[in-house]
Order: sequence, then C-alpha cells, then structure tokens
Amino acid sequence: MLSLLSIFCLLPAALALPMPIFGLGDSTGDDTATGKPTPFSLDAVNSTLLRPAQFARVAYCSSQSIAQWSCGAPCDALKNITFLQSGGDQGLVPLYFIAHDPDDQSLVVAHEGTDAKNILSILNDAQFGLVALNATRFPETAGKNITVHDGFQKTFERTADSLLAGVMSGLKSTGVKKVVVTGHSLGAALATMTGAMIKDAVDPSVDVSVTGFGLPRGGNQAWADFLDSQVGVTFVSNQNDPVPTVPPKFLGFQHTSGEIHIVDDSQTNLIACPGQDNENCATGNNVLDVSVQNHLGPYFDNLSFGGSQCSS
Ligand SMILES: *[C@@H]1O[C@H](CO)[C@@H](O)[C@H](O)[C@H]1NC(C)=O
Ligand SMILES: *[C@@H]1O[C@H](CO)[C@@H](O)[C@H](O)[C@H]1NC(C)=O
Ligand SMILES: *[C@@H]1O[C@H](CO)[C@@H](O)[C@H](O)[C@H]1NC(C)=O
Ligand SMILES: *[C@@H]1O[C@H](CO)[C@@H](O)[C@H](O)[C@H]1NC(C)=O
Ligand SMILES: *[C@@H]1O[C@H](CO)[C@@H](O)[C@H](O)[C@H]1NC(C)=O
Repeated sequence: MLSLLSIFCLLPAALALPMPIFGLGDSTGDDTATGKPTPFSLDAVNSTLLRPAQFARVAYCSSQSIAQWSCGAPCDALKNITFLQSGGDQGLVPLYFIAHDPDDQSLVVAHEGTDAKNILSILNDAQFGLVALNATRFPETAGKNITVHDGFQKTFERTADSLLAGVMSGLKSTGVKKVVVTGHSLGAALATMTGAMIKDAVDPSVDVSVTGFGLPRGGNQAWADFLDSQVGVTFVSNQNDPVPTVPPKFLGFQHTSGEIHIVDDSQTNLIACPGQDNENCATGNNVLDVSVQNHLGPYFDNLSFGGSQCSS
C-alpha cells in the first residue's frame, strides 16, 4: 500500500495547487448530495454488479487469451461467452473487447483500466483539464456547456470508431437488445463515454447500461447531468479508494449519481448513495485516510482487479 506521502510525490503538479488534491473541502456545497444512503443487498450485488465486475476483470488479461476465452480464472468465471472483437494495444491505447453473453442476452463492452499510480498521475496531470466534449460525436450536446477530462476523451477517441462499428455489427449478428458497458479505474471513465456514444447510435429499444468500479470524476456538472438523463451510470466506490475523489470538485468536476459505496472490509456491507457526490459516500472521505489497495479490491465475492489473476 502506498502512503499518502508517496502518492503526493507522484503528483508534482498537485503540489502547485493551493488546496490538497484529494478533494479536501469538497464535502460541502450546493452540488454535493446529502441524502441518507440505503443498504444495497447482496442479491442486488449479484444481479446487477457481479457480472459487469467479472467482465471488467477479464479486460486486464492479454488480448490473445481473451480472444480464445482462456485467460484463467477471470474467463473461467464467465461461461458460454463468444468473443467478438478487441482493440487497443494494452500500452498507450488501453484494450477493450466486445463479447456476446447469451445467458444474459447481451452484448458486453469492457474497457481495461490501469494501475492506481498511473490513474492518479493522469488525473492530477495539469495538462489534462476540462475541455469541450466532442460535439461532432455528440451533436445533441451542442450548446449544453459540457466539458470532460481531456486525457479521458483523447484516450476514448483513439478506439471509439472501431468500437462503435463492432457494437453495431454485434447487435445485428446476435439479435440481442441489450448492451452492458463496464470497466475499472481508467476503464470505468472510458466506459461512461462509450456508453453515451452507444446510446446515441442505437435504436431506442436497445437497453444500454454502464457500470464502473473505482470510477474517477470525468467531467463537469453538465456532463454528469447528461449521463444521468441519457445513460444512467452505476459505479462502485470501495471504502477509502482515492480515485473516486479525484479530480476534485473545486476544479469543476462532478460525479454522476448512481454510486454504490462499500463501507468496510467484509465485502458484504454496501450502501446506495442518492444524488451526485453524496457526502455520506466516497465524496465525504477523509483525505488523510487513503487506501490505494481499496482501488484494486477485493470489492465483493473476493473479486479484485488487475492482471495478476490472468493465466498469461
Ligand atoms: C452471489 O454469487 C456468488 C457467486 O456466484 C455466490 O457465491 C453467492 O452465494 C451469491 N450470493 C447471494 C446472496 O446470492
Ligand atoms: C450455456 O449454454 C448451454 C447450451 O447452450 C446451456 O445449456 C447452459 O444453460 C448455458 N449456461 C451455462 C451457465 O452453462
Ligand atoms: C470527434 O468525433 C468525430 C466522430 O464523430 C471524430 O472523427 C473526430 O476525430 C473527433 N475529434 C477529436 C478531436 O477527437
Ligand atoms: C459552463 O459550465 C461551467 C462549469 O463547468 C460554469 O462555470 C459556466 O458558468 C457554464 N457556462 C454556461 C454558459 O452555462
Ligand atoms: C481470494 O482471492 C485470492 C486471489 O485474488 C486468493 O488467493 C484467495 O484464496 C481467495 N480467497 C477465497 C476465500 O476464495
């Protein structure tokens, strides 16, 4: 586990800021929800979170092993899957894959993430501020003042066209009416943009959902509102993971609603947090009590993210 000090050492840009980077002072204000969270049952974990988490975990394995659906335990946990397409290079351009899940009658799009050190340095890199959302790709957002994280959008754009083409052809060839988009860490941030893009492109009868784990803030309030109204994001924040608390709200970033917060190490105590940036969940975390291990897991059902569980 990295100490808070070593995290700050990774973030020279952060030190130039007048306030600590991990959202100190973020837990008050008009755009911070205060509603009381409600318990989130283990049945709900299994029916809504477990499968997206398992697919997001597969995205850390090599593209060759995913193509054959033989990546060790992460692939073995998901039966009957047909791989359709992958892209990215597991380097500068993170991997994504598209698969058909007949048991859920869905198409799955999963984005690979990155390790905690890397995501924190991307998030706090001063060159990646908020920039306008690409209004060519999202024409209906013109004039809505939507801004997103520059680095996330640049990364998203590198594979967006081929990914969308793969989803459209996969919907046609399989006949399913449901698209599940998922990812962990950077992969969760990419999943929100991918979900919005797919929702824009498909017939309204196709159900598109986005589930993220260890999701950082990806854009301004207008982006969060757009995702809330057009897509619907569910994201899981694990205890004192610093990633969901950055980039900070005082720089203009805002989470969507749909947060599920893991309260302790038991892997069984989860709460659903009403509104955006609920102060009773990750947004209200003590900035002096940060756990990078919480970013990786375990989240529930002994499930952690990263390539260590892949067979190759
Ligand atoms: C959730 O699913 C896991 C793995 O399939 C299983 O071990 C566990 O018992 C399930 N929990 C509930 C509450 O159904
Ligand atoms: C997998 O497919 C087979 C045959 O198509 C089916 O019988 C089975 O229920 C499916 N699901 C699992 C989890 O094996
Ligand atoms: C914006 O989206 C279009 C596709 O709609 C794409 O061709 C273009 O490269 C994107 N612009 C940037 C700057 O990424
Ligand atoms: C656009 O959004 C920013 C916050 O992201 C806000 O400060 C600004 O006032 C907004 N402009 C308009 C025209 O709504
Ligand atoms: C939990 O997963 C880890 C590897 O991620 C494994 O070493 C451990 O045995 C697992 N524990 C249980 C109870 O399954």
